[in-house]
Amino acid sequence: MLRGKTILLGVTGGIAVYKAVELLRLLTKAGAAVHVVMTRGATEFVTPLTFQTLSGQPVHLELFNLISEQQIGHISLAERADLCIVAPATANFVGKLAGGIADDLLTTTIMATRAPVLIAPAMNVNMYQNPIYRENEARLKRHGYLFAAPACGMLACGYEGEGKLQTPEAIFEEALAALTPKTLAGERILVTAGPTREEIDPVRYISNHSSGKMGYAIARAAWLAGAEVTLVTGPTAIAPPYGVGVVRVESALEMREAVLGRLEETDVVIKAAAVADYRPKLRARMKVKKTAAQLSIELEKNPDILAEIGARKEGRVLVGFAAETEELVRNATLKLEGKNLDLIVANDVSQEGAGFNVDTNIVKLLFRDGRVEELPLMGKHELAGIILERVEALRRGK
Ligand code: CTP
Repeated sequence: MLRGKTILLGVTGGIAVYKAVELLRLLTKAGAAVHVVMTRGATEFVTPLTFQTLSGQPVHLELFNLISEQQIGHISLAERADLCIVAPATANFVGKLAGGIADDLLTTTIMATRAPVLIAPAMNVNMYQNPIYRENEARLKRHGYLFAAPACGMLACGYEGEGKLQTPEAIFEEALAALTPKTLAGERILVTAGPTREEIDPVRYISNHSSGKMGYAIARAAWLAGAEVTLVTGPTAIAPPYGVGVVRVESALEMREAVLGRLEETDVVIKAAAVADYRPKLRARMKVKKTAAQLSIELEKNPDILAEIGARKEGRVLVGFAAETEELVRNATLKLEGKNLDLIVANDVSQEGAGFNVDTNIVKLLFRDGRVEELPLMGKHELAGIILERVEALRRGK
């Protein structure tokens, strides 16, 4: 995801420096070339050798190191970076930057860069709430500096509250967002994902093999592109993406309520959920015992949520998914028209590498005007990006 990108990772002194090691690992694993700059304070917590080994690059420590100044001085570091991250950032670092003080390699480099700068502060809760710190942060934000807001929790100093460095995973997502063009800024996108569960009795249910991966990938990509995202999800085993509002539901009826209740404040609906078409007509109050030799469960139809949204479409863009095992284009076209959609992602689940519980998909995109776009086998994250590009074009066309 970050292949070809050069990232400058600034590390300032604080107990959270160990988390910067994990962040470095995530960045390099994603393909970025990472150059680490440590302040003197940072080296008191973790040795430069750790960062050097994991980044595969020399760690920069001193402003006037003549050898490295010739090879890759602070200006060259500042120019080469596509993105600068400072994690953890102390109150001292934020104060210096806000005051225009450049008295070490990190502050000089950050002052000299034209790349986006993402700052992940970590400090004691009282320092974080100190009005001087708050003013410094607000000033930097006004000038376009990005912040990964700290989390709440137990702080190393024994206090509890705001000031804990964000998780490396969250800072990684903020870094990706900083590098992603905001093509969906201002769009309110609702994504559904995962299966639904239809209860038979207190311990059993009917469901399907949907993993939620496709919908989660779309929600993540939409947030990275600047949209305000709500993810209505059935039960899944995967972690919801960072930055999106998550609404957890179990049954199709709960999903219907969650989706229709939010329709007014939604511009785009993408229904990747595998909604159970039927539910048991009666839910047993007690566990069904195995006394009968045969057992039939009577099912009744669930409402078609997407068709209901289609009937109340107004200016929204609606995207549906079709999982088919035969006559893909014909069946998907019927759903596109029947449910009043703009786009349907048609999925032949009988093919290897497509559909449920895998990381890849092979789909055709069918549009309202009859266009059919055939896509090759690709990862669900890549496909999510393509679907959102088409959504953006549809929104622009309106
Ligand atoms: N869908 C929905 N509510 C339902 C069933 C489906 O909103 N009760 C949505 C799905 O989220 C998906 C699309 O409709 O975006 C197509 O779902 P699919 O199960 O492929 O089609 P069905 O219309 O249910 O038809 P069939 O099962 O007969 O193929």
